[in-house]
Amino acid sequence: MFKRIKNKVTNWSPTQIKTMAAQMPKEFPPRYIALACCGFLVLLSLFTIIGFGVGWLTILIGLVLCAVGYYDLTQTKHAVLRNYPVIGHLRYMLEYIRPEMRQYFVESDKEAAPFSRAQRSLVYQRAKGESDKQPFGTQLDVKAPGFEWINHSMQPSVLKSHDFRITIGGEQCQQPYSASIFNISALSFGALSANAILALNKGAQQGGFAHDTGEGSISQHHRVHGGDLIWEIGSGYFGCRNNDGTFNESEFADNAKLPQVKMIEIKLSQGAKPGHGGVLPGAKVTAEIAAARGVPQGVDCISPASHSAFSTPVEMMQFIDKLRKLSGGKPTGFKLCIGHAWEWFAMVKAMLQTGITPDFIVVDGAEGGTGAAPLSHDGAGCRLVQFRPRFHVCCGLHSVAKLPYRHLPHRCHHTRPTPPTGFGGT
Ligand SMILES: Cc1cc2nc3c(=O)[nH]c(=O)nc-3n(C[C@H](O)[C@H](O)[C@H](O)COP(=O)(O)O)c2cc1C
Repeated sequence: MFKRIKNKVTNWSPTQIKTMAAQMPKEFPPRYIALACCGFLVLLSLFTIIGFGVGWLTILIGLVLCAVGYYDLTQTKHAVLRNYPVIGHLRYMLEYIRPEMRQYFVESDKEAAPFSRAQRSLVYQRAKGESDKQPFGTQLDVKAPGFEWINHSMQPSVLKSHDFRITIGGEQCQQPYSASIFNISALSFGALSANAILALNKGAQQGGFAHDTGEGSISQHHRVHGGDLIWEIGSGYFGCRNNDGTFNESEFADNAKLPQVKMIEIKLSQGAKPGHGGVLPGAKVTAEIAAARGVPQGVDCISPASHSAFSTPVEMMQFIDKLRKLSGGKPTGFKLCIGHAWEWFAMVKAMLQTGITPDFIVVDGAEGGTGAAPLSHDGAGCRLVQFRPRFHVCCGLHSVAKLPYRHLPHRCHHTRPTPPTGFGGT
């Protein structure tokens, strides 16, 4: 039979061969080879079962793979599987273990965000009481562009306590707060589970840190361990809102006066979703979350992109003043990720104009994380390191507002442009 085929093929003219070759992929595309192999496995197993009584397992495997191939060919959801039946699954399997493969084999010890493998290992070593020392020189690439470092002092001072604290609260504040310099960022209940909130607040209570509630307001879980709270008020006014989503003064005053609440933070924006607001999908709005936020259960919970209680920098300062008074004089500040520099200048101008100053300002960078960030907004907003020179343009207000910087290389900028009047600079 082989001889017959060979004779037939060798008798073909070059044109016939070319035409045949051109037709080949259409008749049997190589992408079906894996499926064909499965079919062949079934036939081969059938042969060995009939001939030798063995091959039951391989026929079973072959049949399952053929069934998978049939499903792949007929389904319309995944183009890869339809085009590459059976073998296409390899792509999904490899994709599934991609993070681990990158982490174990490709990434260097100093790469990856938010924490590198080296930082993670250091935390584990310390938690287990193992040595956290490393012989020889630094493994950091100190010549890399943008390398950041902390300046040391030639004359280190002796610290009386390792509990670094700073008093927050200017002249306009009756209940200043002695805050640790290590605190827990705003992470809302809803983005985080009840257990996570319980754990963070217990940590805050044990370490003397302040736990920022995030815009999801104060839940019952924030109250269990009694750790200090910074109550964040976002544009949805959760925990202090009317049914139409506007700000409710009396509800605010009731919560703000809780002894556990030490500071009030108005959230203007955050680095992970600048200018965007947010949505907690209805399916995630459980009875507990609804109770904490003061919204209906099971309905999409919307944080508008901007506040309804103020729309200009001057109104914002007046709102800060109102919250400070309603809270009984607790330190009141705001959180933002800078977009347009002139909006910052406009706020500084409003502080000078009204004489109302925030007690603290929390600066988030475009690199910050959140529970659910829209990927289309990745890259919007000012990086933290770029904000510092702008904060220096604050017309002598340094002494009144505390700015929790991260460690940054020292840079200074002395230009003082005239700030415009509105948020939009018009
Ligand atoms: C799960 C999660 C939830 C967050 N929720 C809030 C929030 O409700 N309000 C807010 O202002 N920031 C929120 N953030 C942002 C953080 O407060 C912080 O700005 C960001 O993580 C960057 O700081 P970091 O580099 O210290 O993490 C959230 C972040 C994460 C990871």
